[in-house]
Amino acid sequence: MSSPFSTIGFIGTGAITEAMVRGLLAEPAATARIVVSARNAQTAARLAADFPAVEIAADNQAIVDAADLVILAIRPQIAEEVVRPLVFRAGQAVISLVAAVDRERVADWIGAPVNLTQAIPLPFVARRIGVTAIFPPDPLAERLFGILGTPVPCASREEYQLLAAASAMMATYFGIMDETVRWLGAKGMPDEAARTYVTALFADLSVSARDTDLPSFAELSHEYATKGGLNEQVHDDFRRHGGASAITSALERVLARIEGKPF
Ligand SMILES: NC(=O)c1ccc[n+]([C@@H]2O[C@H](COP(=O)([O-])OP(=O)(O)OC[C@H]3O[C@@H](n4cnc5c(N)ncnc54)[C@H](OP(=O)(O)O)[C@@H]3O)[C@@H](O)[C@H]2O)c1
Repeated sequence: MSSPFSTIGFIGTGAITEAMVRGLLAEPAATARIVVSARNAQTAARLAADFPAVEIAADNQAIVDAADLVILAIRPQIAEEVVRPLVFRAGQAVISLVAAVDRERVADWIGAPVNLTQAIPLPFVARRIGVTAIFPPDPLAERLFGILGTPVPCASREEYQLLAAASAMMATYFGIMDETVRWLGAKGMPDEAARTYVTALFADLSVSARDTDLPSFAELSHEYATKGGLNEQVHDDFRRHGGASAITSALERVLARIEGKPF
């Protein structure tokens, strides 16, 4: 599948830009030309060295001028000062990846009648397997993220913000794995053996979660917990010590941040 855009420009060449560029230009390449910011210098140089289709722009305005799709991939703290001075063309496609900044604010910074979409690509797009929430639904953005995995068009801003909150569980997922591996290490298990075991355990659980016919994860959890057994004991301890409420309150707080409320 090829991209509906012939030149894609990225403002901000950080982690998520690198993942998207690698996904888009993996063989067979999905687009002919990608223009990236000079910042971050090392990431831009690495991408240009790996892919002849990648050009490093002299400045951010040159990216907007060259691209038929502009992707905003800078951090929220500096996004306004980076975007406001840029001059966009009417009808130009723009996708904002900037977290916790709603579409109306980005549209105000842009100040021109562009076709503005928001998206949450995840690092897995580098391997063309990421789920990407998109708001509002947009056929061209959906085609682009279809190349990089599975687009998830959101019917409402609220739904998009909820998925943004859920996507913030990634570090915690690895954090649970890390705590388990550390604990095994502290008990004398060699690090590599601990990592290998825990990685396979979590990978198999993820596959089971994906492939289950059961209507809820609660039922899956129940199925994996023998009555009076070890899994039931750990899950009970987890809940009794505030594990479940820690997850709920963390999601509430990150949602408040995404909604621009005090958190
Ligand atoms: N990482 C993810 O999984 C992910 C997923 C979805 C959305 N997002 C969102 O996407 C945005 C980028 O995230 P990220 O993880 O890629 O961040 P990042 O790695 O910090 O990348 C941001 C890049 O912007 C560059 N930059 C700073 N000032 C600039 C300027 N004036 N002009 C052009 N580029 C400039 C930085 O360069 P220097 O290093 O030189 O300062 C940096 O390389 C954020 O808003 C984030 O919330 C990230």
